[in-house]
Amino acid sequence: MKIARFSRIGFILAAAGSAVGLGNIWKFPYIAGENGGGAFVLIYLFTVMFIGFSIMIAEMLIGYLGRRDGVSSFETLAPSNKSLWKYGGFMGMAGLLIMTFYSVVIGWIFHYIFLALSALPASVSEAEVLFTGMLKDDISSQLIFHTIAFLLITTVLTRGIKGGIEKLNIILMPLLFVIVGGMFIYATTLDAFSQAWNFMFAPDWSKLNSDSFVTAVGHAFFTLSLGMGAILTYSASLPKKSNLVTSSLIVVALDTGIALLAGLMLFTFLYEYGAEPSAGPGLVFISLPAVFYEMGVLGNFFAVIFFLALAFAGLTSAVSLVEPMVQYGIERFKMSRLSASVAMGLFFYLIGIIALLSNTSAYSEALTFGGKNFFDWIDFITASIMLPLGGLIMSIFVGYIIEKERVESVLKPHLGFLFPIWYFSLRYVAPVALFIVMLNLMGILSL
Ligand code: TRP
Repeated sequence: MKIARFSRIGFILAAAGSAVGLGNIWKFPYIAGENGGGAFVLIYLFTVMFIGFSIMIAEMLIGYLGRRDGVSSFETLAPSNKSLWKYGGFMGMAGLLIMTFYSVVIGWIFHYIFLALSALPASVSEAEVLFTGMLKDDISSQLIFHTIAFLLITTVLTRGIKGGIEKLNIILMPLLFVIVGGMFIYATTLDAFSQAWNFMFAPDWSKLNSDSFVTAVGHAFFTLSLGMGAILTYSASLPKKSNLVTSSLIVVALDTGIALLAGLMLFTFLYEYGAEPSAGPGLVFISLPAVFYEMGVLGNFFAVIFFLALAFAGLTSAVSLVEPMVQYGIERFKMSRLSASVAMGLFFYLIGIIALLSNTSAYSEALTFGGKNFFDWIDFITASIMLPLGGLIMSIFVGYIIEKERVESVLKPHLGFLFPIWYFSLRYVAPVALFIVMLNLMGILSL
């Protein structure tokens, strides 16, 4: 089966589109806030460079050499025990599971674009009532917007790599850069910018708690889209003779850049209007709308373009979460792209409805087990178990299983004298770090 190939810029934008997502604009600022800022940001930057970057190159390499869906690529590349290694590719399931709640959150964002167009909440407490009201009691609007997200994402997927995914990213990613860049430049003109800068970059080591390292590694992974075969599947469509090292570097730099710009901008706005940087997950849906209200008409405008940018970031990541399973259906089950896209789309859409309902007052009790509701369980199982496990498998596969000469022949020309450092990090640093993170997140080991 021949897969259509990305153009060079199309691949970079699609991989960056996958990486830059809700993780960068919604999650990074609030976990940086919760972990006290500067020192946490430094640890995060460190893990992105030394662990994330190494595994990004490894995951790209598997797709680039394997040239097929995740399962088949593992199978093709394993020198022996093929029938065992092919299970490495099943991590693609994690993408569909993540999509069940990712699509619901994209739905909230659509809802907030409409809110921003009409009226913003006048205070943080009003904003809180609004958000929890939507989350707990407004099943129909959540359903409508979840359905719109499902339809959009599935339609793009039915059009394939070139006409769907590449096109979506070529249109939305530049818009996203312009919006975040523009709002950032405005933020630099405000007095509170230096306060935000200090918060993000002046390390106060006393603020760090023992979990911060683990949170930083886990997030570095999620934000770079590693561990489930999204980058792998895109890389199977790379043009021949691509430079995986430069591509990884650009994707990592764009992803980190957007997270830092978004963080600085949000904290500037929050400080300028007296809100707290440590507001938690509600930062973007609760504190920020109230801050936009304070800004008057400009705030309304900012709110609309901000939630649009968030929607763009979410949609470009969403297609990458589903595509590995679509590709799998096409190659292994000889499904047409249309039926594979619809089948995988329906899977996340229908299970997503259960996730959505599990947050509501009416159904939360029936959908809560062991102290977590269905929505939180899926988040936990994917982010804490499946992604680090997928990353661990990939680092072992490229570090120990694929012949070193083969790895070297692709990467040595681009990595040069850095090759041994990368190989060492992939064989020793990354697996150990991931193993610790997994144990810790699963609650087996408490650092
Ligand atoms: N990286 C995206 C974000 O930051 C989410 C994402 C997209 C993802 N594809 C992925 C996470 C694959 C893990 C694996 O929001």
